[in-house]
Amino acid sequence: MLHKIFTLLTIVASATSENYNVDCSWPIHSKNLTCGNLLGDRQAVHEEYMEGCRQKWGSKGALRCDSNEEDRLEMSRRQPQSMVNYTETGFKKIKAPEKLWSLLKNYWDANKNDKHKEEWGIGNVYTNNWAAPTYMVSVEDKGLRGGGRFMKNRIWEAARPTIEEWTGMKLQATSLYGIRVYTEGAILAPHVDRLPLVSSCIINIAQDVEEDWILEVYDRNDRAVNVTMEPGDMVLYESGSLVHGRPFPLKGNFYANVFIHFEPTGEHLHDSEWDTQDDFFPPYIVPDSPEIKNWARRNPSGWKKQAPSAAGLSRPKGHVAAANGDLQDIGRLAREDKHLLHKKDENGWQPIHEAARAGNLDVVKLLVEKHGADINSVTNFGDGSSVYNVAVQAFSPDHPVAMYLSSKGAVNIGPEL
Ligand SMILES: *[C@@H]1O[C@H](CO)[C@@H](O)[C@H](O)[C@H]1NC(C)=O
Ligand SMILES: *[C@@H]1O[C@H](CO)[C@@H](O)[C@H](O)[C@H]1NC(C)=O
Ligand SMILES: *[C@@H]1O[C@H](CO)[C@@H](O)[C@H](O)[C@H]1NC(C)=O
Repeated sequence: MLHKIFTLLTIVASATSENYNVDCSWPIHSKNLTCGNLLGDRQAVHEEYMEGCRQKWGSKGALRCDSNEEDRLEMSRRQPQSMVNYTETGFKKIKAPEKLWSLLKNYWDANKNDKHKEEWGIGNVYTNNWAAPTYMVSVEDKGLRGGGRFMKNRIWEAARPTIEEWTGMKLQATSLYGIRVYTEGAILAPHVDRLPLVSSCIINIAQDVEEDWILEVYDRNDRAVNVTMEPGDMVLYESGSLVHGRPFPLKGNFYANVFIHFEPTGEHLHDSEWDTQDDFFPPYIVPDSPEIKNWARRNPSGWKKQAPSAAGLSRPKGHVAAANGDLQDIGRLAREDKHLLHKKDENGWQPIHEAARAGNLDVVKLLVEKHGADINSVTNFGDGSSVYNVAVQAFSPDHPVAMYLSSKGAVNIGPEL
């Protein structure tokens, strides 16, 4: 009873303060904003944003800006209603656990001067990168101090218990790139993450700002909530169902944060019970929901549980040779066990992706021209990048590997975030 009264009071209190739904600060369900001038002329801010994208991509890509924007809106309408939710609120702010925090903070301090500019795909409208470039301090870059797959796994493992406890589910890792650095004027369009980015966290690593850069999330009633974060703060969020973004431009020099993503395995954390298992669909999509068809189209072979992430520690031989640019080793493997040159690892990466990430033109050419590697194969389990996209993410469209792939007609398929 007492609880009910408090809930009522909260609702009354929030109704008298700033209170708005989707399509007020930014288009989320519809392009047409619905709350007049409550937050100023947001329609004009959005139109200028879209114009920035069109101008950046010119005659080749301007149309993609608009179709990507339609896709974002469509996804915000379709996906949240299709997701199983594991928490009542969908988000929660806490302090990052000590071990995770020191791992990330030390990594940042050691490598913050080695960030590289991120290249976003054609017509990408998730950030206004044309006006405010973003940078990445990758955690799996072996060229950085302490970086590599081992570091990536350590970060996943340090974050996992907290998010498992919060969701009550056993989780497996799906995506983690590194520390993204946003710059003055940055906007992050509100969105839900592509699957399998389901149970996630954001950690503020460092910032130099004139005022808080607001993280806007939408609660279960589609009402906007402003969340602020200090360095060391961690926001847990169900990123596949909770709309989140930063629609108000960053005021200040930079804002550095990391996103760490998992998906539920279907196993409960405490009682070892399992959700009803489906042979094909992951346990976190509501059966017969609008997302089901979309998911099936994008995942024709169904949902498989990943190998334990520790498997990332011992790489198959073809991957190692490709990453190291070892042409002799590749020749030897071609004679002894050709299958290793095309094998997929636990993240769906093949040697050709490794070669592209390492920027080894000779290896990429050898794999394509002599050993029949598919230049358009796409990684899976959260990365979802084509070979060309891997090269552009790691370097730039002007890198010899990217130029070579492009001359062969390679497609650019990449994760949006
Ligand atoms: C948005 O507004 C325009 C102009 O007022 C109107 O033509 C269009 O149908 C509206 N679109 C939606 C999705 O409501
Ligand atoms: C999960 O949360 C989203 C967003 O808050 C909501 O739209 C959806 O209906 C919820 N799912 C279920 C199964 O209740
Ligand atoms: C969120 O912050 C913005 C920018 O300061 C403000 O205009 C808006 O009213 C706030 N929204 C909520 C729901 O508090």
